[in-house]
Amino acid sequence: MNLKANLNVIKLIIVGHVDHGKSSLIGKLLHDLGEITDDKVTEIKQNCISRSVPFEWAFLLDSLKIERDQGVTVDTTQIFFKTKKRNFVFIDAPGHKEFLKNMVTGATQADIAFLIIDVNEGVKDQTKKHVYLLNLIGVRNIIILINKMDSVDYKKEKFLSLRSSIKKYLKNINITARYILPVSAKDGSNITQNSNMKWFKGSTVEDVLDRVRPGKLSKKTPLRMPVQDVYKIGQKRIIVGRIESGDLRVNDKIIISPSNMEAQISSIETWPSKQVKKCSTGECVGITLKNQFFVDKGNIISKKNSLPVITQSFQAKIFWFSKKPLNLNKSYNLKINTKSYEIKFTKIERIIETNNLSEKKRSIIERNDVAIVRIFSMSSICIDDFAYIQSTGCFSVESKFDVVGGGVIKIDKNISKQNLKKNLQKKYIKSEQSYITEIDRTSRFGHKPGIIWFTGLSGSGKSTLAREAEKSLFLRGYSAYILDGDNLRTGINKDLGFSKEERKENIRRTAEIAAMMSSAGFIVIVSLISPYDSDRKEAKSIKPKIFREVYIKASIKECERRDVKGYYLKAKSGLIKNFTGITAPYEEPNNPNLIIDTEILSLKESTKKLTDFIEKEFSNKKNKMLKV
Ligand code: ADX
Repeated sequence: MNLKANLNVIKLIIVGHVDHGKSSLIGKLLHDLGEITDDKVTEIKQNCISRSVPFEWAFLLDSLKIERDQGVTVDTTQIFFKTKKRNFVFIDAPGHKEFLKNMVTGATQADIAFLIIDVNEGVKDQTKKHVYLLNLIGVRNIIILINKMDSVDYKKEKFLSLRSSIKKYLKNINITARYILPVSAKDGSNITQNSNMKWFKGSTVEDVLDRVRPGKLSKKTPLRMPVQDVYKIGQKRIIVGRIESGDLRVNDKIIISPSNMEAQISSIETWPSKQVKKCSTGECVGITLKNQFFVDKGNIISKKNSLPVITQSFQAKIFWFSKKPLNLNKSYNLKINTKSYEIKFTKIERIIETNNLSEKKRSIIERNDVAIVRIFSMSSICIDDFAYIQSTGCFSVESKFDVVGGGVIKIDKNISKQNLKKNLQKKYIKSEQSYITEIDRTSRFGHKPGIIWFTGLSGSGKSTLAREAEKSLFLRGYSAYILDGDNLRTGINKDLGFSKEERKENIRRTAEIAAMMSSAGFIVIVSLISPYDSDRKEAKSIKPKIFREVYIKASIKECERRDVKGYYLKAKSGLIKNFTGITAPYEEPNNPNLIIDTEILSLKESTKKLTDFIEKEFSNKKNKMLKV
């Protein structure tokens, strides 16, 4: 876990058109700040002589990178350096796309951006795009360095005229640069000292580095802690994540979204095994709760007075990197906070011209376009308006593990209001009690209600056995009813697929229906693969006293052999994705109430074993009334 160590390091990125002097500037800056020894410079100079190439400060950066790259697996190289006052990390991304990708996935949230412009070339289209995107993804400290001043004899007029055209462009797109400085990376003018341009009374690059306020880690924004993982250590469940905004104290009441359950913080743990009373923005922590709730990766922890928006549909401003145009018929993966969601783009609203912010209608989004679109997610996402909280308001878009775009979220006021309303309504919901009691129903039905939850691989025999048991129970005078996965998925659950998240939702809805039907007096036989133990536990938690877990056991080998629906063959050839037992996991129950091994027992024997068990548990004859 990466704790406070990183909080005081300011992240710097340098962007600019190729050849405008990015590498030279950082090479010279590192040298003049004393980060590179003169010996190293001499060595490189000699190397240049022997190869008959003129020396450039950029070579210094290259040699530094080779040394530091080892072991670095990310798309960027990080070089740490310091001024007299502060520590920095320079993040060098090989290109525009890699840099943006890192920004939107949260790998890099730059505090300061240097934008380099060659005094001879002026503002190019690519430069304009850079500025626009830097601003779009929330880098507020944009510093423009007009480089190669040595090549124009350090002429004041050259600088002033370029500065005014840059200012004009920035004004057009509502952006202000913190500073615009003349420099020469080649000879170091105005990097740490300025002797060649006495006419310039402004700061040097070093001064600016010392002065600019990172301004990213605001504690005033409300709490957002996206859950990275949940670890079980003994009886403790530690919820791990990074505080993206706000702060958190022991005993604070929190809300876990999207379920919007309220919980209270019991402890805050940091690494290595230290408990603290309080933690704030930028820190990675583990928390434990006073009461046990089901918390999952991707959940957002916040506070009651300022919840994230929970929605499936929203508007976003996106930038598209992919060579292939955006396809409205295709599903993409949207990565936000700590999770990935299956989405579709449902509408292209407008394309934005990054030159002048004009907008136009177009039905296609191509490489390097910036556009306003509508997005629909297959499951609910917790998000924020980017202008309100950056980290929970920006995302990347992937197609087959390749990043194809990124974007920022715009929440329209109506959604915010609706969400607020929903949350407020939630507070005022109180269940109504029926006049008919459990006892009344039990005496009319002649048996107690129950939830018989089948779990097992596809092809293990769940549906067949459920049908036989339902018939057998019916004939014995029981009111039994099957809730079968395949059937539910053609109706109430038809919007769900087979990702972990969607299965969880499938199980949640089914468990709620089963609970209602049991309240009506039925014995409900639920037949779902329900491959994850945690989901089954959640299902049980609704009515634990009448819930019985029945493991319909058959090995994967046997299920593949049976392959009743031909799905195993399809899954193996890649036609069906995330298929349980083949390309998705199945967690056997640890301690089921009953195991029916369909490899050993015949259908008749299985049915008898099951119905006997149900009779024993739910008949009215011997047992006392169950309290539900
Ligand atoms: S669960 O995992 O969410 O509990 P459920 O029981 O509803 O699954 O649905 C499983 C049925 O869907 C299987 O019996 C099979 O017919 C079908 N199916 C289609 N795709 C898959 C898949 N990827 N994994 C498992 N079952 C699938």
